[in-house]
Amino acid sequence: MASTDLTYMSGQETNISEEDKVSHDYKQLILSLPREIGFLTQYVHFFHEFWCPSTIIQSVNSFQNHFQAKNSDVVVASMPKSGTTWLSALTYSIVNRQRFPSFENNHPLLKFNPHELMPHFELNLYGDRDEFHQIDLSNMIEPRLFVTHIPFPSLAKSVKESNCKIIYVCRNPFDTFVSYWKFANKIRLAKSLDTLPLEECFERFCNGVCPFGPFWDNMLGYLKESIDRPHKVLFLKYEDLKEDVNFQVKRIAEFLGVPFTQEEENNRVIENIIKLCSFDNMKDLEVNKSGNVGGNIDKEFFFRKGEIGYSVNYLSPSMIAKLSQVIQEKLSGSNRTFNMDP
Ligand code: A3P
Repeated sequence: MASTDLTYMSGQETNISEEDKVSHDYKQLILSLPREIGFLTQYVHFFHEFWCPSTIIQSVNSFQNHFQAKNSDVVVASMPKSGTTWLSALTYSIVNRQRFPSFENNHPLLKFNPHELMPHFELNLYGDRDEFHQIDLSNMIEPRLFVTHIPFPSLAKSVKESNCKIIYVCRNPFDTFVSYWKFANKIRLAKSLDTLPLEECFERFCNGVCPFGPFWDNMLGYLKESIDRPHKVLFLKYEDLKEDVNFQVKRIAEFLGVPFTQEEENNRVIENIIKLCSFDNMKDLEVNKSGNVGGNIDKEFFFRKGEIGYSVNYLSPSMIAKLSQVIQEKLSGSNRTFNMDP
């Protein structure tokens, strides 16, 4: 059962009221770091070369110092709002298909949100405040599945150096930005906080200031590893998943060393996984319609539109031109482009 996979967790993402709970020692460190206005926290701080919400600096540090990866571990990595929930659900179903062969009855994803089944390194595992229920790693069934938004260079050494596998999902920056802005404002509204103006957030995003960003550094770090060590990091795009999820599911299974057999293909296992993890199915599940993860984020906030290009309804042509220009400059030499022609 899913509850034996891990002893679950709270503290999914963070919010302003929690900033007071950061321990005294870390307050001194935080005060010494460059800071900018945050989305869900009052500030994000430039820590280990990325913009880190103040509330998780402590847990990022603990993770870096203490986490011991196993070669069998699997990590789903992304910038927030890039399809993490979807990729987590797909990965969980692929890896656990022998344990949970029925995709209709009693599958853990029918009873738990993917974020309840796969702990985040920085958000759940290493918060050492009383309010965070830490996961007992020794109880986790192998292969252990984790999620992170931390850029590759800032991962714990053992994650980088062991043979554990990382699957990174990247999404075009326009949709990623709008999705995050909508997500942050939903959470802020639920907490009776002022909503954030689109233009201000957009300017910050274009300057690289967003949680776990800059966007381009986060993706380029994983892209480089996927090229240098293709057996270690699989680099996926949300848009490619949308275009041909069947092909990408097979790719993930092969990358993880658990390819689908002919018998499984004949028995439509791939199709069943895709259906279970589809946006419409997951959004409609009772488990994702109410309740929250980590005690502070409504599960329904993880399922909004699930479409490509919806951001053109929010970004003006000049905003699109500006972000296109920024991305083009930052990604020059990487052979990657993102087009968002309205
Ligand atoms: P939108 O806000 O554009 O709708 P993350 O999981 O990284 O937080 O990303 C959330 C984004 O992925 C949201 O995008 C959400 O709607 C979309 N999403 C969530 N589950 C999905 C699924 N099963 N299939 C496709 N998209 C999904």
